Amino acid sequence: MIRLDYRNVNTLIIGEANGLNIEQEFCEYKDRIRDIIADLNQRKDKPGQWLRWLNLGYSEETIWYVKEFASMVRGRFDNILVLGIGGSALGGMAVTEALLKPYWNFLSKEERNNYPKIFFLDNIDPDSIAGLLDILDLKKTLVNVITKSGSTAETMSQYMIIKDMMEKELGDDYRKNIVATTDNRIGVLKQLADQEGYKTFIIPDDVGGRFSVFSAVGLLPMALVGIDVDKIMSGVKDMDLALKNTDIFQNIAAQGALINYLMDKKLGKNISVLMPYSSRLKFVTDWFVQLWAESLGKEYDRNGEKVNIGLTPIKAVGATDQHSLIQLFNEGPNNKLITFIRVDNFDNTLDIPNIFEYTGIGYLGGKTINDLINAEADSTKVSLADYSRPTMTINIEKVDEYNIAQLLYMFEIQTAITGELYNIDAFSQPAVEQAKNYTYALMGRAGYEDSAQNLQSKMATV
Ligand code: PA5
Repeated sequence: MIRLDYRNVNTLIIGEANGLNIEQEFCEYKDRIRDIIADLNQRKDKPGQWLRWLNLGYSEETIWYVKEFASMVRGRFDNILVLGIGGSALGGMAVTEALLKPYWNFLSKEERNNYPKIFFLDNIDPDSIAGLLDILDLKKTLVNVITKSGSTAETMSQYMIIKDMMEKELGDDYRKNIVATTDNRIGVLKQLADQEGYKTFIIPDDVGGRFSVFSAVGLLPMALVGIDVDKIMSGVKDMDLALKNTDIFQNIAAQGALINYLMDKKLGKNISVLMPYSSRLKFVTDWFVQLWAESLGKEYDRNGEKVNIGLTPIKAVGATDQHSLIQLFNEGPNNKLITFIRVDNFDNTLDIPNIFEYTGIGYLGGKTINDLINAEADSTKVSLADYSRPTMTINIEKVDEYNIAQLLYMFEIQTAITGELYNIDAFSQPAVEQAKNYTYALMGRAGYEDSAQNLQSKMATV
């Protein structure tokens, strides 16, 4: 299991002004946390609560269908192209980047064990889309278009461009090169997929985008490139079981949630930094940023009071950002809580040769790069403590299916508990919806005419 070390948020280490008396706080919040966890588990199957992601680890049917489809198309495609944005892309990106052999798309077919390359289009920059389409052979590409709402302009416009190109190139056969992942009822994509006869995967009701990585949204791209989704699911299930424990002293998601919450409430530290010492976890930070920002940045609480709360997430990667953000983290405003992710064992061990012995870099010889990266993770923690900066460390044994699933699922639960501590709805995204609606209005979607007029007049003055 992954472990959380929160010693460096303690007053004993970083002083009264910047730390928390953890034992005392855990005791004080013990009942509240117990009630929150019990309540989340009790509400999870109720329609409209957006908590059904808590069941995803047990969705045998989805896993079966995902694996069956992946094995059916095995060897048929050179490329997987995922179209999606936000929660419909970031989970797949985070997991594939973490688990596939680094530089996957540069490896030969044999080195990829005959699995395809994978590309994600999660933006609508015309140059990058055109650039990617220039290099992909669409005949040998399986496009997975993913959108929960089934209508998101960015994803649907990409889909329209690519579907048109494919139809021209492949004739009627293009349908075999498209697979849709979407809601069962709402949105345009489901209707189109039915009409066109695409293979379709359904995103279950009450599973929002940013909590959907363990639905077909994330699982299908993973399975298509050979990631073991059974191991992923066993990580989710074990973590789910562990986090059902309502005792704050035993539940690492509750501990992380409470520490983040109190850092803000008591000490005004409302910036959360996530800093893995692993390049493979770079996209996990992107995924986390979306999860944390969209879930916890809210104008109103559950009682309708205007609160404008939110813990601003920042992504960093060690050791790279020791030469960038760390200066600010150490000496800038003391308004952040930094969470490190430390990997105990890397897949590779790189020896640093004993050369240049009698020079200033001779001390590195005979060590490993592995020693170096973890020495830097440990020393950065100490140096931040010297400056009275609070930090926590999530320790993971290695970057594999089981641990990555645990990590992501733990963050999801941590986010849900944090939302409850603030008494906000962590599962809505009204500001994101507003931006989507403005886009629809500006692009002339039927039904948005009033909004378009309103927007035009505002744009003339702003
Ligand atoms: O988490 C969310 O709900 C959002 O970030 C969505 O994932 C994002 O807006 C994309 O939406 P959709 O999947 O409906 O295209």
